[in-house]
Amino acid sequence: MAKKKKIRKFEPIIVGNWKMNLFYQETEDLIVGLREDLKNYRREATIIVCPSFPYLDRAHELLIASKIKLGAQDVFWEKEGNYTGEVCVEMLKEMGCQYVIIGHSERRNFLRETDEMVDRKTVAALRHQLTPIICVGETKEERRQGIHYMVIDDQVKKALRYVSPIFHNERLIIAYEPVWSIYPGQPCAPNQAKEFAMVIHQTLIDLYPEEVVARNFRIIYGGSVNEKNVLDYVDGEHFSGVLVGNASLAADSFAKIIKRF
Ligand code: PGA
Repeated sequence: MAKKKKIRKFEPIIVGNWKMNLFYQETEDLIVGLREDLKNYRREATIIVCPSFPYLDRAHELLIASKIKLGAQDVFWEKEGNYTGEVCVEMLKEMGCQYVIIGHSERRNFLRETDEMVDRKTVAALRHQLTPIICVGETKEERRQGIHYMVIDDQVKKALRYVSPIFHNERLIIAYEPVWSIYPGQPCAPNQAKEFAMVIHQTLIDLYPEEVVARNFRIIYGGSVNEKNVLDYVDGEHFSGVLVGNASLAADSFAKIIKRF
């Protein structure tokens, strides 16, 4: 009889990034639908949804007593003050957020968010026990020029420049999201994506002791993830989870992704 392949147990992280796609009623319906679809889901997994700012409070209410956790799509680094339009960590905590996406490529592109801003936001999040989900990823052009590994190494190093030391209870998630693979782009070949996970891991090892990297950091993949391809990326060794945009916008398709674990 063929020997069964031993798979290391890990707790997958599945993040739904709803971007600016859902209005109030749609956000409510999606959360209610997800809760229903996942009511018998028993696997140890970290499931996070990130609705738009104005709906965080309502989302929090609907998620009480559910295993789904709440995240925000961005945060500002200052504690409070005259910063029109910005939202600080403390406000997100009041809304029940435990996670925050930082440095998504759409913010880097459309709003000119820099590595320095990503770094400041990361420090602010950690200071108040909000887990950052830091996005890094190369553009098609950077890949064409052959500088993709350098770009990723640089983004990770810059995002973590002032993040030291790392304390025992702090958690940081790095999301590798090749910019060109974000929907409606094309998914990155899983083997290629895994090479980037190794680059990120090596960068982290350059920055922190190995036990800190193993204990405090998780690396996840994002970019056109769906129920069919999700397990091609997540093996618990390279990637511990996924950041899902488009396929997280319907309860049915998001729940199917989650249930693949
Ligand atoms: P996608 O988005 O799953 O729609 O490609 C991922 C993301 O932008 O976080």
